[in-house]
Amino acid sequence: MTRPRSTRPRLVLGIETSCDETAVAIVRDGRHIEASVVASQVARHERFGGVVPEVAGRAHLELLPKVLDEALEVAGLGASGPSPCDRRAPREIDAVAVTYGPGLVASLLVGVSFAKSLSLGWSRPLIGVNHLEGHLYASLLEDPEIELPAVVLLVSGGHTLLIGMSAPGVYQVLGRTLDDAAGEAFDKVARFLGLGYPGGPEVDRVAGSGDPERVHFPRALHGRGLELSFSGLKTAVVNEVRRHPELRTEDVAASFQAAVVEVLTDKALAAAAQFRARSICLAGGVAANSRLRASLCEAAAAVGLRLYLPSRSMCTDNAAMIAAAGTFRLEAEGPSPLHLGAEPGLGFPERSGPT
Ligand code: KG4
Ligand code: ZN
Repeated sequence: MTRPRSTRPRLVLGIETSCDETAVAIVRDGRHIEASVVASQVARHERFGGVVPEVAGRAHLELLPKVLDEALEVAGLGASGPSPCDRRAPREIDAVAVTYGPGLVASLLVGVSFAKSLSLGWSRPLIGVNHLEGHLYASLLEDPEIELPAVVLLVSGGHTLLIGMSAPGVYQVLGRTLDDAAGEAFDKVARFLGLGYPGGPEVDRVAGSGDPERVHFPRALHGRGLELSFSGLKTAVVNEVRRHPELRTEDVAASFQAAVVEVLTDKALAAAAQFRARSICLAGGVAANSRLRASLCEAAAAVGLRLYLPSRSMCTDNAAMIAAAGTFRLEAEGPSPLHLGAEPGLGFPERSGPT
């Protein structure tokens, strides 16, 4: 008997391999996480001080089948057969969603090819998901009743965006960085300070015992529109440390973090005022930063805005957010073609919304 396929998928398998996390998740109705497995590759890239694309691609290839098996098992869907393509489709899974960009091409290609083989072998629709839109779904997954319109501050390793969201899928980019992303600045400063990789969490940890007022670093474009810039700040840190080698690393890290957070907080509030938003959502890896979370909490409360802070594990790359975004996209636009390709330079999907 053929299972009737509605346009509203109930159970979606998500795959995320855009950078250095190999992740598979299973999400019900776009909001209930049945399984979310993330295999970190930190140990493989650590000695190089950053992500090596070739190493990441190979690691995804090796890890994906294992991560899929684990996700199926956690969700109680079992796994049978020696390889994913031989395996019978778990009857309950309705669609396969995968990140197709932006990201590292070698990493994306592995995830997209794997998802296509599952989609073909299991006869389930394929849904290509924009990684950036995926990050937005971290908030929507944990709190589906978000007060709209909302402003999303999306701060990741490759992007820093202020997005006006009037409904899920209806977005407008209000501001973006003119140069480095906030996460990139964290990673570069961490590397310069000898704090290693991944840099953001290390700066966050070390800054905890530093004085954020020890050095007053520049706040670029502060109070001037919704564009952002972080490359000058990174250079200022390098110059200051070279001029004053006696400075404690903890104080430099704390002062740098304070500069980033002050700008991000003020710009998010300015964007909310301009967009007449009722709430602010934080998204992307840098959303895990302790000072940014605390600062936005305080600032949003002061002006009566609701704030949605995804749990830390949902801020960094995971496949649950991809499955959730995929559920929405399949419902709104139908499946992606099987010739879907990896798009490393894919931009944020600014749309006027599903019709
Ligand atoms: O969203 P994400 O996991 O991957 C991308 O899509 O880029 O973001 C990764 C970025 C990295 O730059 C990492 O250093 C940063 O998020 N990050 C943090 C923290 N945790 C991760 N930055 C500051 N503080 C943190 N606690
Ligand atoms: Zn990401």
